[in-house]
Amino acid sequence: MPLPQALVPELAGRCKAFGPGGLAFCFVDLDALAGLIEDHGEDIVRRTLSESEAERYFGFRHEKRRREFLGGRLAAKQASRDLLGSTLEFGRMTIEAGATGRPSLALPPPRPEPDPEISITHSGGLAGAMASHRGPCGIDVQAVVDSVDRVREKFLQGREARLLAEALPGEEERSRLTILWAAKEAIRKTFSSTGIIGFLEQELVAVGPGAAGGQTLEIVMPNRGLAPVRVRAFLHGQSAVAFCHHPA
Ligand SMILES: CC(C)(COP(=O)(O)OP(=O)(O)OC[C@H]1O[C@@H](n2cnc3c(N)ncnc32)[C@H](O)[C@@H]1OP(=O)(O)O)[C@@H](O)C(=O)NCCC(=O)NCCS
Repeated sequence: MPLPQALVPELAGRCKAFGPGGLAFCFVDLDALAGLIEDHGEDIVRRTLSESEAERYFGFRHEKRRREFLGGRLAAKQASRDLLGSTLEFGRMTIEAGATGRPSLALPPPRPEPDPEISITHSGGLAGAMASHRGPCGIDVQAVVDSVDRVREKFLQGREARLLAEALPGEEERSRLTILWAAKEAIRKTFSSTGIIGFLEQELVAVGPGAAGGQTLEIVMPNRGLAPVRVRAFLHGQSAVAFCHHPA
């Protein structure tokens, strides 16, 4: 099956070089995936999704949502296989969505102990996912758009803009803001099993250089009783990519 044609291995490699061990990543080019669906029809869908996932897929009316759903699940299954060193067929893996939409991986027996945690994102022409043996995780891709400036007060506070400007003086402001937005979304996903954490409950306190040309953002949540979280983030073309895992 030509699915590898839709993967973006250099982006997964960049995340892997940046993150600690025990994490795996996969990204899917959604335009390439659309081309494969056009060429190979439902075969691609049936081979990538389990029966229950295919039912959800065909229930979506819009092609865009179908592509995002398929791309996200393909990415999460490939990342999980990489983490586990497994060759399990995609159709035998199911990604279930909890009541809030939080994804979890269901594998047939013998199940690994513990099951990997996963996180999924899609934005613009990309879907991406991570799988973690380091506890709950979150990944987010955000396309850099001008309108981020109009909603800045929803997620930006205090000295955050100054910290970002000092750390990333060569970047446009909209790119810096998008990095912070993606970082806070990654944290929301990581901790969502105990309720979604507001953007303004999270405060950026430090930005430092990271591997592979990225930044490490240290974010605290003073009212949540959580240890500071280190979010890895970088710009890739016209998108910001951010990921983190539970620090415990
Ligand atoms: C979950 C959330 C962080 C997603 O972020 P986003 O930047 O808008 O969208 P992304 O494309 O990056 O991510 C979408 C993926 O996030 C995942 N996701 C959805 N809800 C999630 C949650 N509660 N926790 C973690 N991940 C979640 C899904 O896998 C989804 O993809 P899929 O539907 O194709 O499987 C954001 O929408 C949010 O805060 N939602 C609120 C959820 C909530 O409070 N629900 C309660 C009422 S049911």
